[in-house]
Amino acid sequence: MRQSVSFGGVVAAASAKPSSSNSSSSVPTKIGKGYRLVSIEEVPEGGFVAYLQVKRKNKIYGPDIPNLRLFVKHETVERLRVHITDADNPRWEVPYDLLPREKPPPLKQARGKSRKIRLSESKFSGNELIFSYTADPFTFAVKKKSNGQTLFDTSTSDSDPFNSLVFKDQYLEISTKLPSDASLYGLGENTQPHGIKIYPNEPYTLYTTDISAINLNTDLYGSHLVYMDLRNVGGEPSAHAVLLLNSNGMDIFYRGNSLTYKVIGGVFDLYFFAGPSPLDVVNQYTSLIGRPAPMPYWAFGFHQCRWGYHNLSVVEDVVENYKKAQIPLDVIWNDDDHMDGHKDFTLNPVSYPRPQLLAFLEKIHSRGMKYVVLIDPGIAVNTTYGVYQRGLTSDVFIKYEDKPYLAQVWPGAVNFPDYLNPKTVDWWVDEIRRFHELVPVDGLWIDMNEASNFCTGLCTIPQGKKCPSGTGPGWVCCLDCKNITKTRWDEPPYKINASGIRAPIGYKTIATSAVHYNGVLEYDAHSLYGFSETIATHKGLQALEGKRPFILSRSTFVGSGHYAAHWTGDNQGTWNDLRYSISTMLNFGIFGVPMVGADICGFYPQPTEELCNRWIELGAFYPFSRDHANYYSPRQELYVWDTVAESARNALGMRYKLLPYLYTLSYEAHTTGAPMARPLFFSFPNYTECYGLSTQFLLGSGLMVSPVLEQGATSVKALFPPGSWYSVFDMTQGVVSKAGKYVTLDAPLHVVNVHLYQNNIVPMQQGGMTSKEARMTPYHLVVTFPAAATQGQATGNLFVDDDELPEMKLGGGSSTYIDFYASVNQGAVKVWSEVQEGKFALDNGWTVGKVSVMGLGGPISAITMQVDGQEVTGAPDIKTRVSEHKYIEESDTDGEMK
Ligand code: NOJ
Repeated sequence: MRQSVSFGGVVAAASAKPSSSNSSSSVPTKIGKGYRLVSIEEVPEGGFVAYLQVKRKNKIYGPDIPNLRLFVKHETVERLRVHITDADNPRWEVPYDLLPREKPPPLKQARGKSRKIRLSESKFSGNELIFSYTADPFTFAVKKKSNGQTLFDTSTSDSDPFNSLVFKDQYLEISTKLPSDASLYGLGENTQPHGIKIYPNEPYTLYTTDISAINLNTDLYGSHLVYMDLRNVGGEPSAHAVLLLNSNGMDIFYRGNSLTYKVIGGVFDLYFFAGPSPLDVVNQYTSLIGRPAPMPYWAFGFHQCRWGYHNLSVVEDVVENYKKAQIPLDVIWNDDDHMDGHKDFTLNPVSYPRPQLLAFLEKIHSRGMKYVVLIDPGIAVNTTYGVYQRGLTSDVFIKYEDKPYLAQVWPGAVNFPDYLNPKTVDWWVDEIRRFHELVPVDGLWIDMNEASNFCTGLCTIPQGKKCPSGTGPGWVCCLDCKNITKTRWDEPPYKINASGIRAPIGYKTIATSAVHYNGVLEYDAHSLYGFSETIATHKGLQALEGKRPFILSRSTFVGSGHYAAHWTGDNQGTWNDLRYSISTMLNFGIFGVPMVGADICGFYPQPTEELCNRWIELGAFYPFSRDHANYYSPRQELYVWDTVAESARNALGMRYKLLPYLYTLSYEAHTTGAPMARPLFFSFPNYTECYGLSTQFLLGSGLMVSPVLEQGATSVKALFPPGSWYSVFDMTQGVVSKAGKYVTLDAPLHVVNVHLYQNNIVPMQQGGMTSKEARMTPYHLVVTFPAAATQGQATGNLFVDDDELPEMKLGGGSSTYIDFYASVNQGAVKVWSEVQEGKFALDNGWTVGKVSVMGLGGPISAITMQVDGQEVTGAPDIKTRVSEHKYIEESDTDGEMK
């Protein structure tokens, strides 16, 4: 029983009786009796601070921390923070300089006597989230004011299988009850065979790990501790999100009616985001963690990569073959093949001689194409290697017992830069500058940054033994490595489910007792490694001619999207992996990393020809679209098979026409956090049928991709939420779905179904072999009204800028933003626009060459086109499809394509 006393935004409650200890054998161990609240007061920073005392100590997983400090603040109208830490000693938290955010008040040295203070009226009277608590035992709840929904509730009863609050040095536990109508999304990185919805009774382990993405339900490369919960009570959809900001390893258990965090260090730093729409949630979330990075225009073109382009002429051939096959290509990549002995920032003088490489780059740059190469964080220990020597001199490496920590990756013995050290960042920025002078790359791919280590524990270089170097992978551990079990950091009392096998926490990574700058333990900072490398790399690239950086990072953390793109790692060329790529991509959109895609055709082993057809048809619509393969895989560039080449021309042809739309979505992502690729529920939150849908997705709010994901299939059963939909490939086909329905669509080998929803205007161009070429062609506005409309409206928008500039923003004469509008009224169609900062678009000579209108109910009587209120003379070629349009009619059963 919770009696609420309202103090403005905060509600305090007198507690009911404390919960008794566990009562049934199925209940997990009751680790503690929890805490009692002993004092509470408002603080000048806003919000309040309370002190908690442990009720009864126990020793499971170590002694309880006796006194806790609770800090609660409404940071914005829609964001509430609940921060719980040791009241007497500072503890590790995600560093405030790495992820900038408000700091909680400092811990008080002497707190004096506990006293109860009545909270005065909160200054956040408009808050949507209400915090309430019980004092003994201490529990808390977070509710939404507008609909009364309880979002989070840590109170327990005898039948609840969890502890209310456990706080030890190396074990923290907290749980929330959840209603049965909660639909949870997020918590990763994790390949989930069950699709996008978080599946009950699977452990979600978060700890950055180099483990191939084919491992299901295991901790993968990134650590994102946010989930979105979408509920629909009485037809009223309402979404919110919860972030636990903590970089220590953890297991999360979702049992359907509860969610439990078991964390091995740090603090509870919980943020609640009120929504209520899914788009509101990502907006609120990315306003805290950093808006997604602006991406250069070319990054939305197609990318070709593989591990094993043994020399420059192979790379040159690949580029020429794409051209011959008339398949668009913007970016050619090198894995580590260009390096000399796998050493970062070097060139192999024999297989990638610098003069020839520079000539090649000049050629592709003149076509508007770009070049990206890989770097790994492991720096080869080699006294003749400048990068290493300079690093050693500047003392940039992570330490173990006061010496650089020795590990093994591709070059053999390596040390790992400590990107938490400002000196390391300076050295890294300088190495990027030096490399760019050697090779003018257009972006960097940072791989293996979980960090991956081929050995576990501590390595030594054996006397008289040399690691293999030169070409090809060499993942046999050639060093003498021994496990370290010396400290409680190497063997914590609670074992998270690391690598899906409860592996030791330092398994194939940096030993957790290794030390970073300022004495920070790898144990605490482990999952921040890739993130900190990303920030340093971003700084390095931004310093080059002030250009907009492009970074692809394998390991990511909360906030990585502010700097980098991500790919889903080492997948397999299987139909299952094709399917899984959709869920992982959609989750990354929720994580604030919208620029994401999977290795098209699969990383290894060999995909079948049919699968590669289907993969490019899906991958052409990933925000980040790249074909990449393993060293030992046979070649799988899109021109290798004639059938794949045809599917690629078709699907990528459409992507290149849609580039203005994709780029505008990236602007939306950058300014509001909106994912580019979204689950259908983002646009149709009322339509619960689509809540778990993981086989289709939206680009933006209304462009739906329904790929073939099954071997041998020549049709696809696609869900159409209520409304009218139009094929963007064949603008004579449409689907009308009154209440929402599944429709079986034709999908022969070269066909992927992409439909545009009613009331939209999508700006397209004519396509081309590069994004640069496509970008200069006239615009084609595709306008959709509800089927057979005699009246209706449509809207769309367009952002264009000089994508070389680091910032992506309106103003300053280097960008234009246009809102398009269209209406139909008894056969009279009007299309108009409102233009902001029009000069940039005008100077570039962009024009609308064609308008296609879909959904009209009869012949057009008049058509006018206006730009900013001015009638356009010499109107563009306005095509309507009214007469030829064929709709799939509404039926009680699933529709069939006619
Ligand atoms: C692991 C990456 O995941 C993969 O994409 C890359 O090809 C290899 N490292 C080699 O660099």
